Amino acid sequence: MNGLFRRYLVVLFRFLPFALAFLRDRRRFILFGSPRRVADEIHRQRAEQIRDTMLELGPAFIKVGQVLSTRPDIVPPVYADVFGTLQDEVPEDVGGDPKQVVDEELGDELDRSTLEPIAGGSLAYVYTADYRDERIALKVRRPGLKPVIERDLRVVSGLIPLVSLFASERQQYSIKKRRRRLRGHHLERAGFRPRRGDHG
Ligand SMILES: Nc1ncnc2c1ncn2[C@@H]1O[C@H](COP(=O)(O)OP(=O)(O)O)[C@@H](O)[C@H]1O
Ligand SMILES: [Mg+2]
Repeated sequence: MNGLFRRYLVVLFRFLPFALAFLRDRRRFILFGSPRRVADEIHRQRAEQIRDTMLELGPAFIKVGQVLSTRPDIVPPVYADVFGTLQDEVPEDVGGDPKQVVDEELGDELDRSTLEPIAGGSLAYVYTADYRDERIALKVRRPGLKPVIERDLRVVSGLIPLVSLFASERQQYSIKKRRRRLRGHHLERAGFRPRRGDHG
């Protein structure tokens, strides 16, 4: 089976239970029935499960979660709140060991034992470290990102029309605007593509 197609299936399958839950909030039996009332606590639990799913699916999905955490016009506040932990609490070992990157690229200049973890984003892990008599912040790009991000951004933008089917008109507007920026923007951020205005 083609790798991209397989990935679509994996992603769809992982989000399916949440999609069904949201559909059932609107109509209790999906195709018919009245809306059901969902306690705040249940929404928080769902948000946490979705966040954990994004963590498992990797950087591109974590990035989507980060973006959603700043977009209360797309997701309800409790989801934005929970997804906010993806801004700086992504574990060190997601996608591989960033310390290995430090060893390979700065092994001669930097004493690894002075590294102290301070935060984890989707694409980068951040340490403080001793460097030339100074304490610096060191932002390390997580290893092996490029192929994974490229594949998954394709999957994400491929799935957006499907997600939009279930969104309100107002949400659709926000999503559409976001989608246009998605691919280029995050590849730029990850350093795979020059930023607008950069030369070389
Ligand atoms: N220079 C820095 N000094 C201190 N903390 C930083 C620095 N750069 C990033 N961070 C922390 O690391 C987190 C992840 O960095 P970020 O640039 O957002 O990476 P990503 O693109 O992977 O999300 C930030 O949310 C912030 O908490
Ligand atoms: Mg970030």
